[in-house]
Amino acid sequence: MAVTRAVIDFRRSEEPKDEAEQQPASYALQLDHVSKSYLLHGEPLKVLDDIQLDIRSGEFVSIVGASGCGKSTLLRLITGLDAQYQGNIVYQGQRISGTSLDRSIVFQEHRLFPWLTVEENILLAFSATNVSQEERHARVKAQIATVGLTGFEKAYPHQISGGMSQRVAIARALVLRPQLLLLDEPFGALDVLTRMKLQHELQRLWEQEGLTTVLVTHDVEEAVFLGDRIVVMTSHPGRIKRIVPVKLPRPRIRSASEFQRIRDDVLSDFI
Ligand SMILES: Nc1ncnc2c1ncn2[C@@H]1O[C@H](COP(=O)(O)OP(=O)(O)O)[C@@H](O)[C@H]1O
Ligand SMILES: [Mg+2]
Repeated sequence: MAVTRAVIDFRRSEEPKDEAEQQPASYALQLDHVSKSYLLHGEPLKVLDDIQLDIRSGEFVSIVGASGCGKSTLLRLITGLDAQYQGNIVYQGQRISGTSLDRSIVFQEHRLFPWLTVEENILLAFSATNVSQEERHARVKAQIATVGLTGFEKAYPHQISGGMSQRVAIARALVLRPQLLLLDEPFGALDVLTRMKLQHELQRLWEQEGLTTVLVTHDVEEAVFLGDRIVVMTSHPGRIKRIVPVKLPRPRIRSASEFQRIRDDVLSDFI
């Protein structure tokens, strides 16, 4: 179903609209009155309530919210893994009703197969495509280089660190050159230093590939470091409380006073 939108909704945006935002925007993804309920003990449990969010092509959106507020559920809907929802999720003019190779997701756990090498795990992304063997190998090699893992092609997951495994997961997500990258707490299990390094790398990949990116994180600093906007969610049912724009140049300096002001402002929603 093709959907056009006459009115651009940036409600709850905290700052006055700047010139760029007043121009007609090119939206990659539109969440239009999206609600979702699960059945719990035979009763419907509303998990997402009236989610309204438009994401521009090439935008980086961070989503923060307490555990259980429906962040993973929302990403599952956007991926198309779950088509049971109310409202519309429109990706490039089409209502999402199933998965697509154009949208990739990375989870907190790397989900690599332990019996396959780094290279073989990434090659698996091509299994539903008709890309030639030669092209598959060339793209996997290039993607491994992009995430800084050259030399580890033949390593098995148990032979590399958690941070490296997450890079493999990101390489597997990007090797089909999706336009939309979804990340569900991708660095949540990593130590602080590895996490900061991967945040820098994710930003570089996002800039390099022109990806539209939605990052779910419980790390508010990560959300501020990476996002053009931060969507703050509340729980039971999951709703958008507000959307905080981050208009700082990249790469962002975590010790800068404006960075810390935004971080503290978002954190104040949870304390
Ligand atoms: N398959 C399911 N059946 C019933 N309830 C579910 C299911 N998946 C998630 N939930 C519930 O939906 C709510 C949101 O879950 P989730 O999207 O995983 O939250 P988050 O990722 O923000 O922690 C939670 O209360 C969770 O228990
Ligand atoms: Mg989750």
